[in-house]
Amino acid sequence: MRSTAKAVGTAPGKVILFGEHAVVYGRPAIAVPVFEVQARAEVSLGEPGQGVILEARDLDLRYPLSSASADDALATIVWKTLARLEIPPQPDILISVQSTIPIARGLGSGAAVSTAIVRALARYFGKHLTSRAISDLVYEAEKLYHGTPSGVDNTVIAFGKPVYFVRGRTLEIFWVKTPFLLAIADTGIVSETKDVVADVRRRYEENLGRYEFLFDEIAEIAYQGRGAIEMGDLPRLGELMNRNHAVLQAIGVSCPELDRLAQAALEGGALGAKLSGAGRGGNLIALVTPETRGRVDLFLRLAGAKRIIITEVS
Ligand code: MEV
Repeated sequence: MRSTAKAVGTAPGKVILFGEHAVVYGRPAIAVPVFEVQARAEVSLGEPGQGVILEARDLDLRYPLSSASADDALATIVWKTLARLEIPPQPDILISVQSTIPIARGLGSGAAVSTAIVRALARYFGKHLTSRAISDLVYEAEKLYHGTPSGVDNTVIAFGKPVYFVRGRTLEIFWVKTPFLLAIADTGIVSETKDVVADVRRRYEENLGRYEFLFDEIAEIAYQGRGAIEMGDLPRLGELMNRNHAVLQAIGVSCPELDRLAQAALEGGALGAKLSGAGRGGNLIALVTPETRGRVDLFLRLAGAKRIIITEVS
């Protein structure tokens, strides 16, 4: 077994541009990586006989893999990756994880941490894994974070490119004709994807016809959104974001704070705005230009945004 003294793996955050929730029910979603935030994992040689030690300094955690429970998502990704890389159990290594991606805000922090761990382990043991293999491994850990994940988070984060994603289908990476800017505004409200997805499932089962209709509406928006991105039609893209937000309100996953931020972004001059991710907190995304970004930023802050990241999609 070849190993280096130290290996690092990183992964970006993500936002969903179109299609959250509907994607769980087989409709398309568009997601883009966010490189302004990052998860980082470092694997180094541990003490002889200690086995695998997991460390997350941000969370004040340090524990041996052997003591982790079966529903520990960090441990799960390590177990699965070591098995995939055919490394004998319990090598003496320290896996240290850090992340600047806010947790439970729809930015894919769980998938990014898992991706960083897989990459660092593969590098440490001198093995190569394709983006597809990394994405598939991360999906296994996502099940612990999310319950019934569609797979969009692990896909966009492992590939690190804008994706048009339909569950169970071959991934499509598409062309962004005109790079554009998104302001990502944090409500500061923690929202657990697992809980919101489970609530949407309950509502769906109680009112199948209505929810199928709403998901179809989102599918159409995502399809047209891809066209707008490929054509570089930013006003149209903004309009579709507004429409997607309205359907997400109808589904019951927005909240007054997200609606307030959406309104403020539009008043500040954004071309469109919508919640991104599971909703009921987390982040709002707004389509801005170099001319409007400052004003939109100000309006969002005045409306209560706790943190704003501007990212370029290209
Ligand atoms: C979470 O980032 C997006 C959801 O659509 C859940 C999923 O796709 O698994 C809400």
